[in-house]
Order: sequence, then C-alpha cells, then structure tokens
Amino acid sequence: MSNACMFLLFFSLFHLIILNFVDSKCPENFQCASLGVLEFPLSNYSQPECGFLWVDCNASSPKLYLANEELSSPYDILSKISTNVFSIRNPTLLGYLRYKFCDLPYINFSLPNSPSISFTIFPYITLFSCIKSNDTQKRYFQGFRNYSGCESFDIYYTTTGNLLLPPEGCSAVPVPVYSQYDPNTMDFWDLFTDQYHLEWHLSDDCNECHKRGGQCATENMSTFRCQQGVPAAATLVLFFVILITLNKRNYALNLKGKTQNDKDIEEFLKNHGDRIPRR
Ligand SMILES: *[C@@H]1O[C@H](CO)[C@@H](O)[C@H](O)[C@H]1NC(C)=O
Ligand SMILES: *[C@@H]1O[C@H](CO)[C@@H](O)[C@H](O)[C@H]1NC(C)=O
Ligand SMILES: *[C@@H]1O[C@H](CO)[C@@H](O)[C@H](O)[C@H]1NC(C)=O
Ligand SMILES: *[C@@H]1O[C@H](CO)[C@@H](O)[C@H](O)[C@H]1NC(C)=O
Ligand SMILES: *[C@@H]1O[C@H](CO)[C@@H](O)[C@H](O)[C@H]1NC(C)=O
Ligand SMILES: *[C@@H]1O[C@H](CO)[C@@H](O)[C@H](O)[C@H]1NC(C)=O
Repeated sequence: MSNACMFLLFFSLFHLIILNFVDSKCPENFQCASLGVLEFPLSNYSQPECGFLWVDCNASSPKLYLANEELSSPYDILSKISTNVFSIRNPTLLGYLRYKFCDLPYINFSLPNSPSISFTIFPYITLFSCIKSNDTQKRYFQGFRNYSGCESFDIYYTTTGNLLLPPEGCSAVPVPVYSQYDPNTMDFWDLFTDQYHLEWHLSDDCNECHKRGGQCATENMSTFRCQQGVPAAATLVLFFVILITLNKRNYALNLKGKTQNDKDIEEFLKNHGDRIPRR
C-alpha cells in the first residue's frame, strides 16, 4: 500500500471517529444555573432527546418538565437535594388544596413508572377513596381517620404505615404531606402540601444502556429496549484493529525481506565459503 493511500485511509477513519463523537451530542452533564451540575436522566430543556426529565435552567425560577406527562404544568424546582432528588413545588396540587377539590385522590402524584425510570415522592400518606357510606369498607378501615366531606366517596387514611392493599371498590393514591404533619390534630385539607421531594431511580437496564452510549426506550408500553447508535468506542476499536492489521502486514513484508537477505547471505557464503574464516 502506498503512503498516499495509507494517509487517505487514516484521514477518513479519523474523521469517522470525530463525526461519531459529534453525533452522540448529549453531554455527560450540564451546568444548570443555581442547581449546579446535572446529569442523565436530567437534560437541558432544549435537548429533550437526552433525558427523561427536562430542566429549564432559568436562574430565578428553574422548572422541571416530565417527558411523559402531558397533563401537568411544569414543576418549580426549589432546590437540588442530591443527584436524584429535587425539592419541588407542584402548581397543580396547589390549586386542588386551595379550592378543596375532591378530585384530590384521583390525581396520581406519584409519577408513572416505566421500564427505564421509576419515581417516588416523600413525605406522603396514602389516601383510600371508597364508595360512599359502604359498611363493609367502614369495617375494613376501622381505626383509620376518615374524611367524608366529598360528595361521591369517603376517604380513609392513616399514619401507621401504608401497608394495606385497597379493598374492592377503593383506590389508593399517595399524596404529599407536610413533613411535620399530625393527622390527629390537623384538619384533612391542612395535611397536604404542594412542596415535596421527588426522587427518581434509573432501572439497571437503562443505566447499563446509557453507560454504553445507548438510548433507553420502551417498546409496547412495557418492554425495555436499548437503542444503540454506532458508538464512538466501536469505531475506535475498528480504527485500532485496522491500524494493527496494517502494521502486521508491514512487519510481514519486513520479515520476507529479511528472509530474502538471509538467502542472499547463504548464497554468498556458499559461493565464497572458502574465503571466510572457519568458526
Ligand atoms: C440549554 O439550552 C439553552 C437553549 O438552547 C441554551 O441557551 C443553554 O445554554 C443550554 N444550557 C446548558 C447548560 O447547556
Ligand atoms: C426567567 O424567569 C423569570 C421569572 O419567572 C422571567 O421573568 C424570565 O423571563 C425568565 N427568563 C427566561 C430566559 O426564560
Ligand atoms: C399511581 O401511579 C403509580 C406509579 O405509576 C402506580 O403504581 C399506581 O397504581 C397509580 N395509582 C392509581 C390509583 O392510578
Ligand atoms: C369516620 O370516623 C368517625 C369517627 O371515628 C366515625 O364516627 C365515622 O363513622 C367514620 N365515617 C366513615 C364513613 O367511616
Ligand atoms: C361495599 O363494598 C364491597 C366491597 O368492599 C362491595 O362488595 C359491596 O357491593 C359494596 N356495597 C355497596 C352497597 O356498594
Ligand atoms: C410489540 O408489539 C408488536 C405489535 O404490536 C409486536 O409485533 C412485537 O413483537 C411486540 N414486541 C415486544 C417486545 O413485545
């Protein structure tokens, strides 16, 4: 292979690598005004393809948008508690509390989980909302606090764990509460707050996928899939494989040359053996 040819090959390979790095343009992390450095699954609002939680890094009022939440308005981010916990304010909830909307137990404040990411909120209590004035359910929730101010259902809640599965005819929903709540002395509507902690966890599958440069995706609403582009690392490996192959070939050529030389020397020795001093 001629030198020019080699140069061309290296040149194009090198560019392939550079292009690949540019192509995977999602940054490892990003500086987000008062919130500091943020990383996946958070992404800058302008790059929604880079994460599941989109942050608008406005210094005076940073906001959080959720990739698969069409209904809710964005959350205000009050502070970053840790890499996977934000203290947030939920403007939707504020409205419900202010106007004592009885739909409260039908709003799922715990966000929809997916095979890639799951969410928890805290602190919270679970509200069981059940068919109005049903004696079976009344017995079931003996010892619970109740609220019967809603027209179409009764609400039961407790402080001592949230262990129960809801009986038939009831639904259970976690609702954020003040950290110093006391259900025994506080009015039902005074328990809840629009400010709470939102925590997220990547699934192992998604974590692995992300580390390998893939994109976490969900197929048929429930199956995890890792979408892989041509990762830069693979191109890099290819580059070195070709480099080594070429080098080996040069080496082989050199060896052949040497063998030829050796043969010449043998020939020379044969022809001029008598003049060479014997060892
Ligand atoms: C986030 O995106 C906006 C809009 O494109 C841009 O102005 C800003 O610099 C980006 N911030 C970071 C930290 O990348
Ligand atoms: C940042 O937030 C403030 C207050 O909400 C608002 O007035 C301003 O327009 C926002 N700036 C940008 C760039 O969105
Ligand atoms: C609320 O969302 C959580 C997480 O997706 C889910 O497990 C739970 O069943 C939902 N509850 C209701 C009442 O929709
Ligand atoms: C609610 O609790 C009060 C006091 O414990 C009780 O008298 C009432 O029957 C309960 N109501 C329902 C609907 O469970
Ligand atoms: C009361 O609830 C039970 C299940 O908890 C249900 O089987 C029953 O039909 C309900 N009764 C009425 C009157 O709705
Ligand atoms: C997803 O659904 C499509 C058709 O609805 C089906 O062909 C495919 O096998 C499903 N994939 C998985 C992983 O279940």
